[in-house]
Amino acid sequence: MKNCYLINFDEIGNDENGYLIALEENKQIPFDIKRVYYTHRVPCDSKRGFHAHHNLEQVLVCLSGKVIMKCFDGSDEIEYSLDSPNKGVYIGPMVWHEMYGYTEETVLMAVASDLYKEVDYIRSMDLFMELVNDEK
Ligand code: TYD
Repeated sequence: MKNCYLINFDEIGNDENGYLIALEENKQIPFDIKRVYYTHRVPCDSKRGFHAHHNLEQVLVCLSGKVIMKCFDGSDEIEYSLDSPNKGVYIGPMVWHEMYGYTEETVLMAVASDLYKEVDYIRSMDLFMELVNDEK
């Protein structure tokens, strides 16, 4: 699987007082951070994503509730079940991703390497496959 992997974050604390997780650029997050955004109150039967990016790098962290992330690099597909804030999924360039299996509590945060630029999106699977095959 290209440009996509799970990251486990170290937790500071204990059961008595709770836990803290710090995300710093070029440490837990493997790039310079330019933007953070999150989705919440997504209906449980919704599916989101359905795109890849030309250049953007992101780490997605499920802060509350659960969500499933399906990632596809044009050849291999992998599904991550995100159910804890102590892990994140790195999604680099040219990874088609879809999110589903939301719960009422789901808050999905994304830490991103660039500002929002619609021109960086690939929202058509046909175009995505063409670009993947051009790269080969
Ligand atoms: P999109 O990235 O397609 O969301 P998802 O992958 O969760 O389905 O974005 C949904 C809408 O929000 C789209 O109209 C673009 C807009 N948007 C912003 O304005 N700024 C942002 O940082 C992001 C991520 C999206």
